[in-house]
Amino acid sequence: MRPGKVTAVTTPGKTRVAIVFGGRSPEHGISCVSAGSVLGALDPDEFEVVPVGITRTGQWVLTDGDPERLAIEARRLPEITAESGTDIVLRADGNGLLVLDPTEGPRALADVDVVFPVLHGAYGEDGTIQGMLEMAGIPYVGAKVFASAAAMDKEFTKKLCAADGIPVGPYAVLRSGMALSEAEKQRLGLPVFVKPSRAGSSFGITKVNDWADLETAIATAREIDSKVLVEAAIVGREIECGVLEGEAGGMPEASVLAEVRVVGDYDFYDFEAKYIDAESACEYDIPADLPQQVTRQVREYAVRAFTALDCAGLARADFFVTPELDVYLNEINTMPGFTPTSMFPRMWAASGLEYPKLVDRLIRTALTQR
Ligand SMILES: Nc1ncnc2c1ncn2[C@@H]1O[C@H](COP(=O)(O)OP(=O)(O)O)[C@@H](O)[C@H]1O
Ligand SMILES: [Mg+2]
Repeated sequence: MRPGKVTAVTTPGKTRVAIVFGGRSPEHGISCVSAGSVLGALDPDEFEVVPVGITRTGQWVLTDGDPERLAIEARRLPEITAESGTDIVLRADGNGLLVLDPTEGPRALADVDVVFPVLHGAYGEDGTIQGMLEMAGIPYVGAKVFASAAAMDKEFTKKLCAADGIPVGPYAVLRSGMALSEAEKQRLGLPVFVKPSRAGSSFGITKVNDWADLETAIATAREIDSKVLVEAAIVGREIECGVLEGEAGGMPEASVLAEVRVVGDYDFYDFEAKYIDAESACEYDIPADLPQQVTRQVREYAVRAFTALDCAGLARADFFVTPELDVYLNEINTMPGFTPTSMFPRMWAASGLEYPKLVDRLIRTALTQR
């Protein structure tokens, strides 16, 4: 791949935004697809883009940012490797971030006004890169350190949201080495969902219909995180809500709601259904067909959850709505998918904010941190 070319001098009037994508989490490929869409949506008259890929081993490379290379092709997800571009290091220089070429001495490739970490999962959505950007003193899109870490961890998401009166379903936390007691099995009942506390894109999640399969499910989840949640399966519709930080210090805003229905052979909204087979495995209703009262309730909980976790910029709050119309929070994503089939941008488009305007608003919101 042709390495990226950026000059160290920003064109007057343009904002230089580093799009950071790929990364060390299993959601590497999804992040690349999300970044491809974001790159394709940025207005070249407004923004100068520095497309920074992170390999699966954590190496940073300056890529050419060609959106076409970052699409799903023949059911294969894109990947950033050391060959995807020029090796770079980022250096915090006290009041900003410099992109440096380490092979040519400390030659500045670019200084950056704002970072959009289009990263999902560990080392991206969990507060780690946010901490690095805080150290550098550079504005960035999305949740800060605490909210990122709290929302990444399904245990703490539930605890913080429940403390603010948002209903969550019954669950048990199995820390490293712990097993599920008989009393907990009784309390939760079958089926249960076994999941890593800190993961995403349905990685490591198993629906368990028979206690005999519990051990294997826990072991699968522990491959990703030593802390595992066992949740009572909630029979209900899956409803999602986008939240954006309010403009000019206003209240957070909730989008119209979406319903995701998994059809065909898929038992739940797993990885394949989400991304690989999204066209045929999932049906989406935007806006979701719900009674007005329920819609209002979900949107109110979504904003409350955003505030409970101290989110910034954006988040997607996911809920279950039962046949009795009870609402339960499932999880919050502080860097929701931005792929062409992703719910977050589609919900905002349906709310009157088209994809390029959404990206623009996120970057402008971040820049007000300056
Ligand atoms: N407690 C539950 N009850 C019913 N379905 C669940 C439950 N937990 C997870 N699921 C199913 O698994 C999917 C992925 O789980 P989720 O907790 O959202 O993890 P991820 O962070 O990987 O998206 C959900 O969208 C839903 O289809
Ligand atoms: Mg989810």
